Amino acid sequence: MSDEKSFHMTPDEFRRHGHAVVDWIADYHSRIESFPVLSQVKPGEIRASLPANPPTQGEPFDTLLKDVEKLILPGITHWQSPNFFAYFPSNASGPGILGDLLSSGLDVQGMLWSTSPACTELETHVLDWLVPMLGLPEKFLSSSTGGGVIQDTASSAVLCALLAARERATNYTSNQKGCNGRIVAYVSTQTHSSLQKAAMIAGIGADNVRAIDVDEKFAMRPEALARQIEADKLAGLLPCFVCATVGTTSSNAIDPIPEIARVARQHNLWLHVDAAMSGTAALCPEFRHLQNGVELADSYNFNPHKWMFTNFDCSCFWIADRKALIQTLSILPEYLRNQATESGAVIDYRDWHIQLGRRFRSLKLWFVIRYYGVEGLQHHIRRHVQLAQIFAHWVRDDEDFELAAPVPLNLVCFRHRAGDAANQTIMDRLNRSGDLFLTHTKLNGKLTLRLCVGQTNTEARHVEKAWNRIREEAEKLAASA
Ligand SMILES: Cc1ncc(COP(=O)(O)O)c(C=O)c1O
Repeated sequence: MSDEKSFHMTPDEFRRHGHAVVDWIADYHSRIESFPVLSQVKPGEIRASLPANPPTQGEPFDTLLKDVEKLILPGITHWQSPNFFAYFPSNASGPGILGDLLSSGLDVQGMLWSTSPACTELETHVLDWLVPMLGLPEKFLSSSTGGGVIQDTASSAVLCALLAARERATNYTSNQKGCNGRIVAYVSTQTHSSLQKAAMIAGIGADNVRAIDVDEKFAMRPEALARQIEADKLAGLLPCFVCATVGTTSSNAIDPIPEIARVARQHNLWLHVDAAMSGTAALCPEFRHLQNGVELADSYNFNPHKWMFTNFDCSCFWIADRKALIQTLSILPEYLRNQATESGAVIDYRDWHIQLGRRFRSLKLWFVIRYYGVEGLQHHIRRHVQLAQIFAHWVRDDEDFELAAPVPLNLVCFRHRAGDAANQTIMDRLNRSGDLFLTHTKLNGKLTLRLCVGQTNTEARHVEKAWNRIREEAEKLAASA
């Protein structure tokens, strides 16, 4: 028996290969600017380079790592490149990556407090730390009526909020009886699409999501919200939930939370605040005014995996009344019963989200906060905002370009004055060049370019280069016209 091949990687082999992987990651980050930011492969190209069948016999680990370099890297869009300005960022950092590696090394499954007490307690602790760090209301603290939990994504967070809102509005009967088509949720025309998906999953139905009109800054009009709620009530419907956004995806618009909260209070609606990217800015006291009114929210989320140097996935979700959430999502089959749970003295996070099993995500967040300190995080956020503001100045001062929306933080929406086709061509050429990566949106029906400064290592020189390349493509286009 003792001679039998184990097939496993021994701890010594793991140590050796692990060092090689960490070296590879460090080298990758050092040479990241040498790759085209947007992957240049064609659909199917990566698969075509892979063997049709899995190996019968195991392969040496070195071969695997070589194939990452040869077969996988060409198909990578380099989100960690400092020339990545697309979408919203999904930035990472050394401490975040290492925290995640440790989480994989421990590989605990923290569905219950008892399945790894540290996994639950560190998470509760770090989310309590973040409440004053971000100027959030004390009711979100675990020592109060609420508490925080890490979800995989903002989409999951808002689904939980919507489910709890639906239950609360139906006196906790809709889980049992299902929905009757009368429950209505409110968003703005600019709210992230995850809200519509959540309504579909929650059985509310996409037709019962009202997209409220926005003002010239793309922020929700509270008076239009109030009017729509009145109309729905008159029609015998049951308004239950409204989402306000701090930093919409299209243009970084800031919904007026105090006014929306007033309407929500008046009609007994659950108010969720989605600050998926821009919530990170609240680390800096000077940007906290953007989320004024958050103390009136029933729930709130932001994604450290977007702008707070914590690698994907990590979305922090707080709730003012944890009982509403737990009552909505708690199911206790016999096989999960245990003394700690029965004692009522612990948090079992399985009751705070959709899935049962959960990763030890708080480790990477803890590492990031401790390694940078509040001061280090603030330093980088301020720098990103400053760089975006400088870029916005260049756009404002250039007669060929115009700003398409206010720039409250780190996202600049702008366009060439020559129209949609010109903007599309400029963006396509830039992205094909691999020098930088930009994405677009439509604002007031016009194609608009978006440049978001939020990648961990983006510095002034990258933003300058981006502007120079944009100008260069615009000039080439003008010359060829
Ligand atoms: C404002 C806003 N909310 C929600 C989301 C969805 O984020 P996630 O991928 O974490 O579900 C995004 C993504 O960009 C967003 O910008």
